[in-house]
Amino acid sequence: MIETQFIPKPYSKNLESGQFTWSSPSNIALVKYWGKKEHQIPENPSVSFTLDYCKTTTTVKFSKKETKENFSFEIFLDGEKKEDFKPKIETFFKRIETYLPLLKAYHFKIETSNSFPHSSGIASSASGMSALALCLLSIEKRLLEDISEEQFNQKASFLARLGSGSACRSIEGDLVVWGNHDDIEGSSNLFGIKYPYDVHQNFKNYQDTILLVDKGEKQVSSSVGHNLMHGHPFAQQRFEQAHQNMSRLMTIFKSGDLESFIKIVESEALTLHAMMMTSMPYFILMKPNTLEVINKIWNFRHKTDSKVCFTLDAGANVHVLYPENEKENVLEFIKNELVDYCQNGHYITDQIGFGAKMIS
Ligand code: PMV
Repeated sequence: MIETQFIPKPYSKNLESGQFTWSSPSNIALVKYWGKKEHQIPENPSVSFTLDYCKTTTTVKFSKKETKENFSFEIFLDGEKKEDFKPKIETFFKRIETYLPLLKAYHFKIETSNSFPHSSGIASSASGMSALALCLLSIEKRLLEDISEEQFNQKASFLARLGSGSACRSIEGDLVVWGNHDDIEGSSNLFGIKYPYDVHQNFKNYQDTILLVDKGEKQVSSSVGHNLMHGHPFAQQRFEQAHQNMSRLMTIFKSGDLESFIKIVESEALTLHAMMMTSMPYFILMKPNTLEVINKIWNFRHKTDSKVCFTLDAGANVHVLYPENEKENVLEFIKNELVDYCQNGHYITDQIGFGAKMIS
């Protein structure tokens, strides 16, 4: 794939060494991306809330090297050298080299850390890959004449996508769309864009409390999961449904209709898991406690008229979503009724955020 718009002009400036630090958040999809074509092109559009607290902070130190034959880098997580991260980064570098020709000219020391515990079962690929893409692109920005903020964000999202699809939704906030959709102007399969229309006050500062039901390694990696959608008996219907759900959410974002929001969001989460249960091979990624939590949320909603709801990623943990004005009540409910279903009582309180930040 050659997306020529992202191939830079010859570098006009010189830079021997330096460093950049970015922190980039995780995101939680409302309409899910599940199924992709080559080069991380999504089979359907998706939309996510950008998170605030859950993030990766990455520093990239770079220095010019003698030859330009190979990639040269080392990577550290919380100060500890991580040889096992190298193949993933090497693949990422290979994929983006055409768009970031500086990669073979420097040696890189990549130092990264997450705000959430490494073994929490929270995927760090979205925040990790977007933070790395931003640091690398900051180097390019120094080597070029002016590039606008919009061009920078678009290319950062484009590069992040080539690291991990959903990472392209972590550059900006608070609501990001990725994937072509007929009714969303500017939407693209190549990068995420900030949702371009008005959003009702009900969705401002939306809360997300992540219940760590199972902190283990993911049973199925997301690339294996996406591949299971090839030849999946329900794939085409699912992709069409995602388009429809995007259209429905557009109306909901405008009107602030939380009842309808809940229906789409919960159905999307269960559909994602239904796709995994009906693929070949098949997987159940929810745990008994995931179902306990879902039932508790439904009971609470029934009893109290709350607008709390859940969504899931490709694992057992539950994201509890609720409007800001319910914060006190829902946190009380979580403490009283849901904490027991979390591994070691662990949960993370987060909320919608506004995207990545350059630290230095
Ligand atoms: O970005 P990936 O390849 O890890 O895929 C993420 C897929 C889901 O988290 C399950 C859904 C989504 O849209 O984020």
